[in-house]
Amino acid sequence: MVTIAHISDIHCSKTRHGRTGFKPEQLNAGLREVNKLNPDVVVITGDLTMFGFKEEYKMARKYISRIESETLIIPGNHDSRYCGYEYFDEYFGYGNISLKFPNISIIGIDTTIPDLDEGNVGRGKLRWLIGNIKKMPKKNFKLVAMHHHLIPIPHTGRERADITDGGTVLKAMINAGVHMVLCGHKHTPNTWLINNLAIVNAGSVSATKLRANTRNSYNIIEIENNSIDIYLKEIGRKPKPMANLTKTNFGSGLMFGDQ
Ligand SMILES: [Fe+2]
Ligand SMILES: [Fe+2]
Repeated sequence: MVTIAHISDIHCSKTRHGRTGFKPEQLNAGLREVNKLNPDVVVITGDLTMFGFKEEYKMARKYISRIESETLIIPGNHDSRYCGYEYFDEYFGYGNISLKFPNISIIGIDTTIPDLDEGNVGRGKLRWLIGNIKKMPKKNFKLVAMHHHLIPIPHTGRERADITDGGTVLKAMINAGVHMVLCGHKHTPNTWLINNLAIVNAGSVSATKLRANTRNSYNIIEIENNSIDIYLKEIGRKPKPMANLTKTNFGSGLMFGDQ
């Protein structure tokens, strides 16, 4: 079994004008929980900072360096504000990276556009992404991580900041045989299953900006041959099952690994 802790939207920030959008106590508790869980990988789907400032990147790197598992980190729209993408490269390395585990391949893609809340993949990066997915072993379970969500998420109010080429990217992911896309951005956990592609959204682990009836949280994903369990882990609470994907509800797309 491969266990993934999926964290998103940390939003490290310093107090400005008497307020901050960041809850360090939630991040501290979340990191303690994640280290205790000891997952194979921690995927962080962006918005490490609030404004992309150097002081925020320094904070984010300090917190993230406490993670004892391997990490895959991509930037979010907040990290690309004020040319913050330059700090992202400096502090975390270029945002398109990949990891391989037995039977599982993960790749991250930067969907941010400087100074805009919306994001896209774009034709050039999509070609790069598909090329890398094609290089993944055929039998592997294939995951793509991006900050912006491919399709709208319920309970998030007016839809105005999803990926601008979502339809094209969604179809490309399905055609390329991707099994799961991990997203952040809306601070609202959710799971969709479309044409054997699971789209899993993580909430925010430590931002004050939360929508009604949501708490600071992250997701835990357990991947085994023929069965995937996705749990919502609200900070300080027991994991809540969000989805169990098996051959029955996932279709032939779930078959991976040595059969
Ligand atoms: Fe965010
Ligand atoms: Fe975001």
